[in-house]
Amino acid sequence: MENIVWHKHKLEKLDRSKQKKQKPCILWFTGLSGAGKSTVADAVEQKLFELGHHTYLLDGDNVRHGLNKDLGFSDADRVENIRRIGEMAKLFADAGLIVMSAFISPFRSDRQLVRDLVEEKEFVEVYISTPLSTCEKRDPKGLYKKARSGQIKNFTGIDSDYEVPHHPEIALNTAELNVNECVDRVISYLKQNEII
Ligand code: PPS
Ligand code: ADP
Repeated sequence: MENIVWHKHKLEKLDRSKQKKQKPCILWFTGLSGAGKSTVADAVEQKLFELGHHTYLLDGDNVRHGLNKDLGFSDADRVENIRRIGEMAKLFADAGLIVMSAFISPFRSDRQLVRDLVEEKEFVEVYISTPLSTCEKRDPKGLYKKARSGQIKNFTGIDSDYEVPHHPEIALNTAELNVNECVDRVISYLKQNEII
C-alpha cells in the first residue's frame, strides 16, 4: 500500500503466547445455524480456561451487534463479515491467544482467505457437521420456522448455500456426540499438535 509502511515490533506473537505455555491459534468453527458452534466453542473455552490458557471467543450474533452491525445476510455482506472477523481473529492470535470463532462462514473461499492470513498450523477448521434436519428440529431461535414460512430470506441451508469443508482439521456431528465428547476431541487435537 502506497505511503503506508509496516512497523515491525520487538515483541512478537510467540513471545506473547510463550508466557501462557501455548501456541497461538484460531479454532474456526463453521456449520449451519443451530449446529452447535456457539455451544461447543463456549465449552472448549471454559475447558481451556480451567487448564490455565488465555483465550478469546468471537461469536456470530455478538459481533453482528457491534463491529459488523452494518452487515446483513446477502452473499456480499457475508463475505465482508468473514473478512473482518478473519482480520480480527488474526490480531487476537498475534496477541498470543487461542482464538475461537463461531460463525456460519458458509463459503469455502472465505474460510480459505482466513486460513491464508496465518501460519499453516495456526488455523484449525472445526466443522460442526450436524445435519440440517437436526438443526431444524432444534431451531433454538425459531429462525428455521421463520425461514420456511418466508419471513426470513436468504437463510443458510434453506435458500442460501452452505459449502461443506473438504478437509477440516476436526469434524464434529453434534447429533451423535455430546458436548463433552466434542470438547475432548478438540482438546486432544490441540495436545497432539502441541498447541497446548
Ligand atoms: S455468516 O453467514 O457467517 O455471515 O453468519 P453469522 O455472522 O455467523 O451470523 C449467523 C447468525 O445470524 C442469525 N441469522 C441468520 N443466519 C443465517 N442466515 C440468515 N438469513 C440469518 N438471519 C439471521 C442466526 O442466528 C445465526 O446465528 P447462529 O448462531 O449460527 O444460529
Ligand atoms: P450455532 O452456534 O451453531 O447456531 P448453538 O450452539 O447456538 O448453535 O445451538 C445449538 C443447540 O443445540 C443448543 O440449543 C444446544 O443446547 C443444542 N445441542 C444439543 N446437543 C448438542 C451437542 N452435542 N453439542 C452442541 N449443542 C447441542
